[in-house]
Amino acid sequence: MTAPRPGQASRQHGPRKAIPVNMNRPQIQQHADERLRIFNLPQDSLRATLANDVRTGLSARPKRLPPKYFYDEHGSQLFDDICATPEYYPTRTERRLLEIHAEEIVRLCRPATIIEFGSGTAAKTEHLLELAASDARIDFVPIDVSEQTLATAAERLLADYRNLSIDAWVGDYDAGLEHMHRYPGPRLFLFLGGSIGNFEEAEAVAFLSRIAASMGPGDYFLLGADRVKDETVLNAAYNDAKGVTARFNLNVLRVINRELDGEFDLNHFNHDAFFNHELDRIEMHLRANRPHNVAIRALDMEVEFDRGETIMTEISRKFTGDSLRQTFRAAGLALENFYQPDNEYFSLALARRI
Ligand code: SAH
Ligand code: TRP
Repeated sequence: MTAPRPGQASRQHGPRKAIPVNMNRPQIQQHADERLRIFNLPQDSLRATLANDVRTGLSARPKRLPPKYFYDEHGSQLFDDICATPEYYPTRTERRLLEIHAEEIVRLCRPATIIEFGSGTAAKTEHLLELAASDARIDFVPIDVSEQTLATAAERLLADYRNLSIDAWVGDYDAGLEHMHRYPGPRLFLFLGGSIGNFEEAEAVAFLSRIAASMGPGDYFLLGADRVKDETVLNAAYNDAKGVTARFNLNVLRVINRELDGEFDLNHFNHDAFFNHELDRIEMHLRANRPHNVAIRALDMEVEFDRGETIMTEISRKFTGDSLRQTFRAAGLALENFYQPDNEYFSLALARRI
């Protein structure tokens, strides 16, 4: 192993730096394992945000819902099941890329902190954590809306890696990003799973620009992005034969029923996912299979559905090498390395700030 660089020794011993409090103080949860802290990012309560988003989205034409509400406990479990379906190639392709290239990435960055947006179970992240924690203390800082998923992942990781400390931030990517300047560099930022495709281009550039702006000269950013490819492969990935993706999609209606006293009948909607050629994206819809009205009592709202009308629940944009390079450039990120398999099904892009 190479010798520690200046500044590295300081994080091998002693307590971790205290998180300074400020007006926007996040709530901290103590935990039995002192290597774990869970922070609840201030948001005007999830239910209030959900209420606003549902009111706006279901009043709009075409109707829309933001994707982050898929991920309650049941939805997070279903997403995990999607990743294990034979049709959903992104997870295993990205995992393989990380298996092969984690060593180079860790050698280039030598991170003291690994920050991950939408970490989920952080299963793939382990390939990086294992190497980074092999000879130095390291902070893993996952940010995710699913508290249960964060807690379960954190317990597993702490049991496996004794050099690891975890600060888990429960809440939105954006809210979490504001707190990341407190962590020691070099920092490796991760946004995996192709989730960048869930943003429209302008939103993606805005989000990546904010990441770039919070990066220091020694920091790295690793993005996992799904690629444009044979349409049958794409369509199958979002229409698995066992119907897991359909249940995941429909789960957002269950969330609205539970949280906002809604009366969606899941039998009145069908999962509909297809590749949109003009826009190079998978679109996920819930399509009403009959004309009907749905009451959402907590919003004092009645939503009307024509037969065949859809709610768009998610987009998943697919990139070309060129469109990825263009997005990075627009965000002020300098592409350092591109890792992908021969069939170019999925890319990992490693970047630094310009
Ligand atoms: N990175 C994992 C999981 C991807 S699924 C993988 O590659 O397999 C997306 C993850 O992001 C879920 O864990 C979900 O709970 C979380 N998520 C979705 N929208 C979010 C948002 N706006 N802010 C924070 N986390 C979000
Ligand atoms: N980030 C994942 C993707 O775009 C999310 C996802 C996978 C998803 N399958 C889904 C979202 C089905 C909604 C429905 O690939």
